[in-house]
Amino acid sequence: PFILAIAGGGSTYTPGIVKSLMVRLEDFPLAEIRLYDIDSSRQDTIAPVVEKVIRDHSQTITFTTTSDPETAFRGAHFVFAQMRVGQYKMREQDEKIPLRHGVPGQETCGPGGLAYGLRTILPMVELIDLVEHYADSNAWIVNYSNPAAIVAEGVRRLRPQARVLNICDMPVAAMRNMGAILGVDRHKLEVDYFGLNHFGWFTRVMVDGEDRLPELRRHIAKFGLLTEDAAQTDPQHSDPSWVKTWRNIQPIMEHFPEYLPNPYLQYYLMPNDIVAHQRLDYTRANEVMDGREKKLFAAAEEYKRTGILPDAFHVGVHGAFIVDVACSLAFDLRQRHLVIVENKGAIANLPYDAMVEVPTYITANGPEPVRMGAVPLFHQTLLMQQLASEQLLVEATIEGSYEKALQAFTLNRTVPSMQHAKAILDEMIAANAAYWPEL
Ligand code: G6P
Ligand code: MN
Repeated sequence: PFILAIAGGGSTYTPGIVKSLMVRLEDFPLAEIRLYDIDSSRQDTIAPVVEKVIRDHSQTITFTTTSDPETAFRGAHFVFAQMRVGQYKMREQDEKIPLRHGVPGQETCGPGGLAYGLRTILPMVELIDLVEHYADSNAWIVNYSNPAAIVAEGVRRLRPQARVLNICDMPVAAMRNMGAILGVDRHKLEVDYFGLNHFGWFTRVMVDGEDRLPELRRHIAKFGLLTEDAAQTDPQHSDPSWVKTWRNIQPIMEHFPEYLPNPYLQYYLMPNDIVAHQRLDYTRANEVMDGREKKLFAAAEEYKRTGILPDAFHVGVHGAFIVDVACSLAFDLRQRHLVIVENKGAIANLPYDAMVEVPTYITANGPEPVRMGAVPLFHQTLLMQQLASEQLLVEATIEGSYEKALQAFTLNRTVPSMQHAKAILDEMIAANAAYWPEL
């Protein structure tokens, strides 16, 4: 049985991930679960909920919570990482500062994502070093930490040999919705997909040897990438703002019907429309703080008072996916999953060393990317511009370069001009004084 540490133990996602682990104990046997967080008071609030979820399924798993890296990682076989540097308060800034300048406010897309990247790259590297120091020498870090595209590039540059697999649940969430639309279990879908994280396209959706993308296209034209069923199985993605996000694929497919876009492309392809519908005084960070976070804290409080745990946390593909990936790594299952990986020719006309999101077969030694071939000029160009923005941001972080940061902001498609880029960057420097390297 494995020793698993969860870094970012105080996350609102922790109980859901642990629940997913508990229903898969036969596939992924566990001796120990250790929660690790630098914010011990937040983690302590959530820990009793997590412990209860474990005890409902197992009396034998050892459960520890700690802020001490040695206690967390000594001898660990797996680390699930989900750090949020600056917590939701800084996410709120990431969203609101751009929006004040008429640019979409989003945690991973546009200036918000770049700012979050500047906060996260170096702490992520610190975490990797701690894990490498204490953990089992074959340990894998399965990393959900955002902004995943930028974090993956930062890790590639700074710790190229590290056993880190960067993942995102957006493709699999899209596949869950596709499955619901087609009336097929999502595990039966075999998709082709190319792009960067939060910036890519599905090109085929195979079910039993038949491409069902044409059928999906017809559904999406009317309803977006959504059914009521899909929404019901996932409380997170059925929030009104998420419903809107799934629906917004509609105009993209109407204009460019060939491929099915990752929903996040809406921030780059129709920023004006996004800004028109966002609220300066109340962004997604506020919704999450007032919704998912408050609900979980209230559940923890109620559990403490009554001994009864209300079912108030997020379970769904997010937890299921990270467990699937860990199983495939642990037992060399070679399952096909979309993850973030060094290109190495998988997308023929993107740089060899770009961190891309494509289908891979996940072996005990990591993901083996599947070749997606060359992509059309339109997509290649969008991808190259986004890649350059992300790579310059990573270089800005490593070198402490203001100029490269400004280039990263200027190159981002959500940003209409150099002047916008500079105004947003300068405000963000002030807001992130406690977190960013000096530029
Ligand atoms: C999806 C994305 C994640 C992102 C999350 C935000 O799951 O893949 O990268 O962090 O959505 O969701 P939230 O409910 O916090 O807005
Ligand atoms: Mn993601």
